[in-house]
Amino acid sequence: MADKLIIFDTTLRDGEQSPGASMTKDEKLRIARQLERLRVDVIEAGFAASSNGDFEAVRAIAQAIKDSTVCSLARANDRDISRAAEALQGAASSRIHTFIATSELHMEKKLRMSREQVLEQARLSVRFARNLCGDIEFSPEDGYRSDPDFLARVIETVIAQGARTINIPDTVGYAVPELFGEFIRKLRERVPNSDQAVWSVHCHNDLGMAVANSLAGVKLGGARQIECTINGLGERAGNCSLEEVVMAVRTRRDYFGLELGIDTSQIVPASRLVSQTTGFVVQPNKAVVGANAFAHASGIHQDGVLKARDTYEIMRAEDVGWSANKIVLGKLSGRNAFRQRLQELGVVLESEAEINAAFQRFKDLADRKAEIFDEDIIALVMEESADQ
Ligand code: KIV
Ligand code: ZN
Repeated sequence: MADKLIIFDTTLRDGEQSPGASMTKDEKLRIARQLERLRVDVIEAGFAASSNGDFEAVRAIAQAIKDSTVCSLARANDRDISRAAEALQGAASSRIHTFIATSELHMEKKLRMSREQVLEQARLSVRFARNLCGDIEFSPEDGYRSDPDFLARVIETVIAQGARTINIPDTVGYAVPELFGEFIRKLRERVPNSDQAVWSVHCHNDLGMAVANSLAGVKLGGARQIECTINGLGERAGNCSLEEVVMAVRTRRDYFGLELGIDTSQIVPASRLVSQTTGFVVQPNKAVVGANAFAHASGIHQDGVLKARDTYEIMRAEDVGWSANKIVLGKLSGRNAFRQRLQELGVVLESEAEINAAFQRFKDLADRKAEIFDEDIIALVMEESADQ
């Protein structure tokens, strides 16, 4: 049987770290319910110790969600971990995600801690967390820019203390796909107890490669969890986008060979909800969830799609929650698409000559107007009959 790829959604935690994307408890709860309908495996509901508001949001989500694991982020210290555990109490399934930076830059300039201090802090924190929750995830922040030998020591230590998911972040989006995939593969080889944990990747999109890097982490590195957000929401240029990574794994199952638990028909509703809630508009040409993702404007493409959809479609719009694909009528459209739209609108033109004349008027209008709506077509056909 194919391995399962775990989808860990962090829209409500890392996504919310996007400037201007902060959400209320009720908004977060509504999105968490949609993520549950989407059947994500893990919902990172927030960072319980960061504020009372986030604590309450994590708590409300932990109480409400039954089918996904609910997770809270916590820095590697007892106070943060205790707050996370408290907020998660009563959840059907819960996880504590604890992290500490391991790159020289972060340890020296940000934490002002030595390697040995960081190693000890990671060890003690995972041990503490393990006594409060059965499911512990550990992230070495800025992991991709960390010294691999030191990183391997930290990871071996936290696995020995009971961490069951090891998540490698590319915190600043510095990775490129092949190098990132190889980094994960070699790191797993360096850690003697690596097979006691699920390996995960968490990629940021500063160079526009978060999805490609995550997929390389899976394919080349052997990771079996991807951390991602709806619409790629997240700090700076955002995180790996859930809809893209899920549809890549599903559409190219021949290449990835992995199972997913996701109900893809809930992707577009989730995208819309997150966009409406945060006010972050989805760009029209965004893969999978953009308004043009399944729209065909050129005559050659429209003709092809009307004859056989897979001529120009690798996924079905309906499979990700759109009601249908979209033939956009404009100056590049051909007679076939025009005729099809007339039929859909219930307009009956008796002869070929009538259709040709209407088509000519449509083309003239399309030269003046970027997009032709159904009302325009009805109007031009009515003009046509009035002229006769
Ligand atoms: O980007 C990052 O390093 C993070 C960690 C807290 C996992 O979000
Ligand atoms: Zn992050």
